[in-house]
Amino acid sequence: MVLSDALAGGRRRLAALACVLAMAAPALAVEHPEDIPEGEGRDETFYLCSACHSFTLVARQGMSRGMWDELLDWMVERHGMPELEDWERALILDYLAATYPPKPATGWVNPFAPRN
Ligand code: HEC
Repeated sequence: MVLSDALAGGRRRLAALACVLAMAAPALAVEHPEDIPEGEGRDETFYLCSACHSFTLVARQGMSRGMWDELLDWMVERHGMPELEDWERALILDYLAATYPPKPATGWVNPFAPRN
């Protein structure tokens, strides 16, 4: 086997590894509304928030309704999220509060453990 063959083989193995890693990622990343728990307002919440950033950013939070409310203010004031109609804001807050409530303080939490 000549050196260039060996190198090409190494690159193929690397490419295969990259594929495996890419396939493992969706377990952590939230890319479709179906990736998050069912509930009223799920699709609205998913599409609103993921217009600007990955929903993974949202899904790893755990907050009370009041804190989610403040977070929405912050998204509007600081990050240019459009103001929501009252009914829409309530729908989204209900979904967020029900789906991502404050996490119980259990000491060390495995950050790689699947949630929900
Ligand atoms: C108009 C754009 C926009 C929209 C819409 C938006 N965000 Fe954000 N959001 C941002 C930006 C910009 C940041 C900060 C940059 C980053 O971390 O990517 C951010 C950051 C965040 C963070 C991370 C805060 C931290 O401590 O790191 C959370 C949580 C969040 N947004 C939640 C939401 C939720 C929930 C929604 C939907 C209800 C939403 N965002 C909609 C622009 C937006």
